[in-house]
Amino acid sequence: MAANTLRTSLFFGAALVLSLGACATQPATDADDSLYQALGAEQGIEQIAENFIMEIAYDERIFDRFADSNVQRFREKMIEHLCMVSDGPCEYTGDSMVLVHRGMDINSAEFNAVVENMMEAMDKAGTPLSAQNRLLERLAGLRPEIIEI
Ligand code: HEM
Repeated sequence: MAANTLRTSLFFGAALVLSLGACATQPATDADDSLYQALGAEQGIEQIAENFIMEIAYDERIFDRFADSNVQRFREKMIEHLCMVSDGPCEYTGDSMVLVHRGMDINSAEFNAVVENMMEAMDKAGTPLSAQNRLLERLAGLRPEIIEI
């Protein structure tokens, strides 16, 4: 698919589903959800995921990786995943990080590019720096499940 076509479909795909809550909300628990709250809870995480998809769509370093992906699924699972990683009240219904990324031969530069996209996405969502750092630390912990050296 031509880069521009995918970018257009990413953009419209992201815009069209903006109002659909993808988080499978569970009853509140007593767990410490301070990071989830600091990220702006459901709305904040949805905004971060939207921004993240847009950052990826314009990042020549990794854009091709997503050429065959279902953007709507990616968006939904990413929201659930961010919610879960930040101890929010969601159930992640996607595949494990190892299963999803295995065989893609993702290298460290690509991993760093995705992290940069996430930083940019959070900046644009107005996420407080302390919350950004807490989330990035948790995402960095997933590195061994995603890259292949
Ligand atoms: C901390 C870093 C990362 C996290 C948290 C993450 C998370 C996810 C999640 C939640 C999904 C959706 C899973 C599903 O559909 O069941 C996904 C899919 C995907 N990820 Fe990642 N990912 C990360 C890094 C990367 C990197 C570095 C690349 C490559 C540059 C990448 C490429 C992909 C692709 C291509 C898909 C879609 C697969 C498909 O369409 O079947 N991811 N990722």
